[in-house]
Amino acid sequence: MGLGYVGVPLAELAVSRGLEVTGLDTSDRIVTGLNAGVSHIDDLGDEDVAEMLAGGFRASSDPAVVATADTVVICVPTPLDPAGGPDLSMVRAAARSIAPHLTSGTLVVLESTTYPGTTEEVLRPILEELSGLTVGSGLALAFSPERVDPGNPEFGIANTPKVVGGTTEECARRAEEFYSQLTSQVVVARGTREAEMSKLLENTYRQVNIALVNEMVRFSHELSIDFWDVIRLARTKPFGFQAFYPGPGVGGHCIPIDPNYLSHRVEEQLGYPFRFVELAQEINSGMPRYVAQRIQSLLNDRSLPVRGSGVLLLGVTYKPDIADQRESPAIPLAQVLLGMGARVSYADPHVPAWVVDGAVRADDPVSAAAEADITVLLQQHRAFDVDAIAAAAHCFFDLRGVATGPGVERL
Ligand SMILES: NC(=O)c1ccc[n+]([C@@H]2O[C@H](COP(=O)([O-])OP(=O)(O)OC[C@H]3O[C@@H](n4cnc5c(N)ncnc54)[C@H](O)[C@@H]3O)[C@@H](O)[C@H]2O)c1
Repeated sequence: MGLGYVGVPLAELAVSRGLEVTGLDTSDRIVTGLNAGVSHIDDLGDEDVAEMLAGGFRASSDPAVVATADTVVICVPTPLDPAGGPDLSMVRAAARSIAPHLTSGTLVVLESTTYPGTTEEVLRPILEELSGLTVGSGLALAFSPERVDPGNPEFGIANTPKVVGGTTEECARRAEEFYSQLTSQVVVARGTREAEMSKLLENTYRQVNIALVNEMVRFSHELSIDFWDVIRLARTKPFGFQAFYPGPGVGGHCIPIDPNYLSHRVEEQLGYPFRFVELAQEINSGMPRYVAQRIQSLLNDRSLPVRGSGVLLLGVTYKPDIADQRESPAIPLAQVLLGMGARVSYADPHVPAWVVDGAVRADDPVSAAAEADITVLLQQHRAFDVDAIAAAAHCFFDLRGVATGPGVERL
């Protein structure tokens, strides 16, 4: 249920393992597209969808399909509400739509990232009330955090350990049995809360460590220390250190959003802030503005004002080699530059049309770099010949620490 970045790859794997799979989604566009063999996510091509269909997969927008399911996996979005708190409206809506169709013996698993307590306190009451079934006897309920990493060629669902937490031991056992058909290793949590929290620990860990290097890169620049070289040195330590890299900020569905679920829960239930998350957010969300200042200063070195200067942004998605633009820091960066009067263009093979009004698309990054006053590498897509673009550029500002040669300035 929820045929997005999480749901479709899971469905694909389940089909390939011989399970009978139906995909349920409220979007007619997505349902019609998948049934017509069209993929709408990065990690799957149309040929993969064709194989799923040949393996018996069908998409539907009718929640009644749940009546024949042994297992229902909920993968709907869990965004933030306008006040920055958790928005569980889609989890609630999903639960309300399936509950009347659930039959005795069904296992329901929530995979959407959320705060600890959601499965028990939000999902369970809706399912029990509207189905008339009781969790632990008629119904099995579990949480299993999704660990999908879009664009990662090495790790997918099948070779990434899967954490499961059940409302009861029997619920956990059912979830373990289900996922054992799909992944090489299932790790059973003490309960649903531990499973929910483990996902938030993983994402907060990334958010905080990215903020750490983003803060260090700023003062390293002022101290004339090449921070990229510092990381290269530190990462030679074979234990106790994991390399994180600075950049224009954090993006995507997870890192900028999920830790808020945890800090909101801590504040609401315990009355005190989760300080690491607040600090990390402040540092990471300040990066686009910092990058704009560095661009301003690089142009200034060449006696150019930002107003009227051509700034080419390379790679505007939130990570390399994917098309996902959600929460991409390229968006606030472009908006700041446009607000300062720059002529902003962008080159990105994955983004035919960008959400930022006023940014002009460039087809050929090398000739666009030769025309722009400054070229900024935000995402190092494999398709970019970085050295060729840097050589053509008047000034190349590298936010990823990969370019070499004269005229290259690193973050
Ligand atoms: N994208 C990732 O890399 C990633 C990684 C780990 C965890 N997650 C988590 O997984 C969850 C899903 O994320 P996603 O990236 O797959 O989202 P997505 O936006 O790509 O897909 C979600 C799908 O759910 C559908 N939907 C919404 N409400 C529905 C409802 N009531 N009933 C049925 N379908 C409904 C939407 O139409 C959409 O197709 C989120 O909680 C997210 O935080 C995502």
